[in-house]
Amino acid sequence: MKKVIIIGGTGNGSVIASAMVDANKRGADEWGFVGYLNDREPIGTTIEGYPVLGKLADAKKFITKNYYFINTIYRNDGQQKRIKLFEDLQIPDRLLANFIHPTAYVAPKVKLSAGCVVMPNVSLSSASIFGKCCLIMVNASIGHNCTIGNYCHFAAQSCLGSFVEVANGVHIGLNATIRENVKIGKYSTLGMGAVLLKNIADKEIWIGNPARKLRDAK
Ligand SMILES: CC(C)(COP(=O)(O)OP(=O)(O)OC[C@H]1O[C@@H](n2cnc3c(N)ncnc32)[C@H](O)[C@@H]1OP(=O)(O)O)[C@@H](O)C(=O)NCCC(=O)NCCS
Repeated sequence: MKKVIIIGGTGNGSVIASAMVDANKRGADEWGFVGYLNDREPIGTTIEGYPVLGKLADAKKFITKNYYFINTIYRNDGQQKRIKLFEDLQIPDRLLANFIHPTAYVAPKVKLSAGCVVMPNVSLSSASIFGKCCLIMVNASIGHNCTIGNYCHFAAQSCLGSFVEVANGVHIGLNATIRENVKIGKYSTLGMGAVLLKNIADKEIWIGNPARKLRDAK
């Protein structure tokens, strides 16, 4: 198995780690989760039983040993700083793991770039394209012919219609729904439970049903 380190910890990191362990119990044998890089928890401690192997800056040590990585340090409100933190680590795309849980449906013409995570019971419909390091959390459903940028986060149960265009660094909240053909600008957020009918510009947070702008993102 290829050894994978998760950048992050409790939250996105630990739930993705659990899904990787579960995939192995179901017979998958591509990825072996070994621990975390985390700037908040001391090296040598554990997060839900798995070790903190180093700080983010220690990534280069593991790059030289050909470990693989998954980036999970995303925010709900403006992602630019977190994306820079990750990109500064200069992890080559060839060492970004694509993890797809065995219960997910991924249509044959879907394209996932390096570092994408597809969690349990997700459905990715035909011909949708994802940029690098997208996290598609449990039960999310992405319609056909969607175009998704880099570093996008689809929270549990979020649901996109067809031909939706999502730019880089967007967060789609828990159980939010997006009408077909809608466009979302970079670093924007759609709140939990929203029903989005209109386009969102860059760096905006929208909420509600029908969704409207709450404020600018940080
Ligand atoms: C949209 C969001 C980012 C706004 O966060 P925030 O700026 O801290 O907002 P606040 O909690 O201060 O709320 C501001 C107002 O918006 C309302 N509001 C916040 N989120 C809302 C939502 N999802 N739907 C409807 N109204 C919402 C609040 O009730 C409040 O209204 P009020 O001023 O009339 O009292 C956040 O609420 C959200 O939905 N985050 C996504 C969470 C998620 O998807 N988690 C996934 C797990 S990682």
